[in-house]
Amino acid sequence: MASRSQVQNPFLHPLLFLYQILQWIIHKTIAPNPPRSDTELKRPKIAIIGTGITGITAAAHCVGHGFDVTIFEQGSSDQVGGIWSRVNKESGLQIHSIMYRFHPSVTWQSGYPDRQQILGQVRKLWKDYGLEKRTRFDFKVNKVYQDELGRWVINDTSNGRFDGLIPAIGTCGEPKIPSFPGADQFKGKIYHSSDLSREEAKGKKLAIIGGGASAVEALEFAASAKASKISILSRSDKWIIPRNIVVDVLLSFNIFGQETSFSFIPEFLLRKLFYRDLEDISPSEKGLFMDTPMVNSDVMDKLRKGTAEWVRGDIDGFCDRGVMVNRRARGVPEGGPGHEEVIDADIIIMATGFKRPSLSFLPEDSFKEPYGPPNWYLQTFPPAHPSISAINCTYVSAIGSVGNWHIGIYTRILLMFLTDPLTRPSPFWMQRWIDLTTLLKRSSPTGAFDFFTYLELVWWFTFCVAFNPFRWKWAIFVFFGVGLNLPKALVELEEKILPRKGYAVRDKGQSL
Ligand SMILES: Cc1cc2nc3c(=O)[nH]c(=O)nc-3n(C[C@H](O)[C@H](O)[C@H](O)COP(=O)(O)OP(=O)(O)OC[C@H]3O[C@@H](n4cnc5c(N)ncnc54)[C@H](O)[C@@H]3O)c2cc1C
Ligand SMILES: NC(=O)c1ccc[n+]([C@@H]2O[C@H](COP(=O)([O-])OP(=O)(O)OC[C@H]3O[C@@H](n4cnc5c(N)ncnc54)[C@H](OP(=O)(O)O)[C@@H]3O)[C@@H](O)[C@H]2O)c1
Repeated sequence: MASRSQVQNPFLHPLLFLYQILQWIIHKTIAPNPPRSDTELKRPKIAIIGTGITGITAAAHCVGHGFDVTIFEQGSSDQVGGIWSRVNKESGLQIHSIMYRFHPSVTWQSGYPDRQQILGQVRKLWKDYGLEKRTRFDFKVNKVYQDELGRWVINDTSNGRFDGLIPAIGTCGEPKIPSFPGADQFKGKIYHSSDLSREEAKGKKLAIIGGGASAVEALEFAASAKASKISILSRSDKWIIPRNIVVDVLLSFNIFGQETSFSFIPEFLLRKLFYRDLEDISPSEKGLFMDTPMVNSDVMDKLRKGTAEWVRGDIDGFCDRGVMVNRRARGVPEGGPGHEEVIDADIIIMATGFKRPSLSFLPEDSFKEPYGPPNWYLQTFPPAHPSISAINCTYVSAIGSVGNWHIGIYTRILLMFLTDPLTRPSPFWMQRWIDLTTLLKRSSPTGAFDFFTYLELVWWFTFCVAFNPFRWKWAIFVFFGVGLNLPKALVELEEKILPRKGYAVRDKGQSL
């Protein structure tokens, strides 16, 4: 639990105090114990790619349950924490930390932790679970392939052989900085949102290009740094939802994971109660369950007070004094008719996102249409390979959180498939599950796996475990991370009474 000085005063902060108690109980009851330094970890041995929250969390679960891992990270040791080690100092969680409990031993000190706290928790996990000696830095994974026994080789055979693979390479790689005509004429400075610093913004006019979460975060940051003028230049409209745990959880409870005939209700309520006089900036064409919404309450206040302005339009280029924009009215699509304006700026912030890291090191058969990512089994297992779970790096849009319980659940499903062959799905059944989900979501305006909600994810997990009776004994372990001894003992028994070739068969691609 938090050290004494960090424990909240129950009289001054009763809710936070209760939250800390709850976290302590979760930590004590379901966090797997870190292995002792003399414990010999067993096979299946898992290769994990990436030291972000996903990779570190998955690794902590594996070693906590006694399974061996090696983590491969392309960056140096200061990359532990992944994207959070590279974003600007002011970044923090927009969603409540209850929705960002990536590991049961995580103990947050506040409802909305900042970057430092997030990094602190990931690095603590890395150290506590003895992952330092199992991490190889400056190691870019370029290819993976299987040997004759179906074991995974990472780049080449000198790096060991693994039974399972967790690519955890995230979705935010290098900053994306599009080039615009006239950039050389602009007299001020140009930064990517991840490089913005407080000192730079004070008293300056800022033009923020982009209308995503980074743009909204840059707006907040620039306002707190007392920028003299802030303009958000957004070419497409995205939904903004309030930073309110009840609203956010309720929205993630849409089990259908898509637009339904009832979607107009939350959309109507958001427009009338949250956007109010700013309804003009709410999306007119895009439903709430089609794209990841931004979570922020302050932005509306800042726009109302005139601290910032929201400009919908296309960027035509830069000039000496700012950004040339074709300002469009609501409902006019990108590139449509508008009004030319110059947005004055001392600093231009490119909140234009990040390049998506490539999964192309995986075998070719992982990308065979129509079963290319994100159209994979449970979205993370390529149908050809039940021994690969690419956690958190195939998703496109969602309402939920990247850093939550599902990292543990996905990891334990993989461990189940690796240790108990009778639970392992064949490519045929993985494809049928994908087909079924696609069929169920056929009326969705997005691709079936291009948008999902957290409850839909829970339904996928439930279906996966319930579908095959050999998986039932694993249910408690898969969902809560406890009780591994029971399925292990039953697997040993099954091996004795059901001697079948299946036990010797490993994931050898489509031929399984
Ligand atoms: C400013 C900002 C704020 C955010 N806020 C939130 C939020 O509030 N809530 C939320 O849910 N999400 C948020 N996100 C999304 C964020 O991506 C996740 O929260 C989470 O950090 C992703 O972790 P990850 O481990 O999956 O990926 P990453 O943190 O991106 O880690 C991936 C790691 O894999 C390594 N890697 C990639 N390719 C290779 C390779 N070929 N070989 C070896 N190593 C490789 C990378 O170097 C990196 O260290 C935010 C993102 C940003 C940029
Ligand atoms: N605290 C938080 O919750 C938080 C904060 C920051 C980031 N994040 C997460 O990090 C990820 C990245 O977010 P992000 O906001 O950095 O990137 P993003 O979601 O990809 O948004 C990039 C924005 O830049 C715009 N853009 C890109 N190229 C452009 C161009 N050439 N001209 C004009 N506009 C352009 C995009 O417009 P189009 O939409 O029209 O393409 C979009 O509005 C997301 O998963 C996000 O949820 C979360």
